[in-house]
Amino acid sequence: MNFTGRSLVTIDDLSNGEITAVFDLADEMSQSMKEQLDVCRGKVMASLFFEPSTRTRLSFESAMHRLGGSVISAVDTKATSLAKGESIADMARVVGSYADIIVIRHPWEGSARVVADYAGVPVINAGDGGHQHPTQTLLDLYTIKKERKIIKGLKIALWGDLKYGRTVHSLIFALAKLGANIVFCPTPGFEVPNHVIQKLIAEYGGELERLAASEQSDKEKVSPLDAIYITPGSPHQLAMMPNISIQVELKRGVDALYVTRPQKERFATSEEGEGFKKYPVVDKKLLKEKEFEKTLIMHPLPRVDELACELDADPRSMYFKQAARGVPVRMALISLLLGVKEIATPDKSSPAGIDYPAYRQDLGLKCPNPRCVSVQESETKYIKPTFKIVDTNPLILRCTYCEHGFEPKYVASSHWHEGAPEYKKYHSAESHWARTIRPENLIVFNSADEAEVRGFKPSHYATVPHKRSDGQKR
Ligand code: NCD
Repeated sequence: MNFTGRSLVTIDDLSNGEITAVFDLADEMSQSMKEQLDVCRGKVMASLFFEPSTRTRLSFESAMHRLGGSVISAVDTKATSLAKGESIADMARVVGSYADIIVIRHPWEGSARVVADYAGVPVINAGDGGHQHPTQTLLDLYTIKKERKIIKGLKIALWGDLKYGRTVHSLIFALAKLGANIVFCPTPGFEVPNHVIQKLIAEYGGELERLAASEQSDKEKVSPLDAIYITPGSPHQLAMMPNISIQVELKRGVDALYVTRPQKERFATSEEGEGFKKYPVVDKKLLKEKEFEKTLIMHPLPRVDELACELDADPRSMYFKQAARGVPVRMALISLLLGVKEIATPDKSSPAGIDYPAYRQDLGLKCPNPRCVSVQESETKYIKPTFKIVDTNPLILRCTYCEHGFEPKYVASSHWHEGAPEYKKYHSAESHWARTIRPENLIVFNSADEAEVRGFKPSHYATVPHKRSDGQKR
């Protein structure tokens, strides 16, 4: 596959072979740093960081300098025309005419996709809110590969804020596509969002075993574990013996423990972080058991209180190595996307995922995620929200910008009411009608009011027929 001119917005933009190719080039470059000084001579990289950053920004800039290129930068929206109400699309068009490649970090989820759509030059997502951070994932995988040689079949535990941590969201998909098993150890209340789990199982196969309620009271060990993802790649004991305890499974140890800090800047309320007060700190005591003897201790950094400094000198600790490896990995990526370096990819597979049907109706449907770029005032003038229909039972739509999934409450069909207003009816999305509507005719509403404003009347099937005993929708 050819990298030239492409953007890296989510980790799905790269196939497994392309990820390996980036690592091969990073290896080659790190062995001969001084020889890379002409690789990007005459090229300009725009480094736009509208959220705090030390490692990502400086390692990208260091990477471009080590390739002999130049860097222009903006680090604060208040110092740019975004503060005057300029749209991200206009900024992208302009910066794309000053630079050959753009690296962007921005708090709105899906913002890097918009920049990639309008810039006309390759764009690298350096973190878009709580959505994804694909280059952090590349250097995380590079580190695991360097230390363990092969990623397939490994068991990686993710620890801490799995709700808002964008690094873990990209890492989950990458580990799944490379055939690793994942052990989820979230701080209570910071579990992996449902839309990430839905995409993981639908697109990467495998299965998710949740910790049974009976096991949750077992506090004797590393207790934050709530689920384990088993890759479809290899036959697995859990898959073959469904009754085996996942606590027992964890006691067999993990190949890496990926720790993350509470992403306070994304908490909805100040109380949201309470769970972290009771959450175990990753320290020598926690990792003293035999099953952690060879565990790699990883962290994207910065750390706050969740990872003890006493581990810094421990040979299992990888976090400073991870940060250092960001430079050759980003050098490789920049030069591939700029087309100034080529490298053979070991497989020809395309990175494209499932080709879901698009939601086609233009009836004002908005993404319900308030952090999505498509609902921000400055962006609604030109962004037409777009969605994919990723499941029909239950009906789930996914925003193409922030990738949040949601289950609309009501549905209607553009086909049935055509030319016959008396048939302009809406139904519960849980009724059997919902599943008979063809994707090209599907209309969805998040509330009855939305449907009625559009002139739809409730059908006999508009009341929600079925709720689970735990109160959640099916
Ligand atoms: C991470 C980020 O910004 O998402 N940091 C990084 O890029 N190395 C993790 C974090 O801030 O917690």
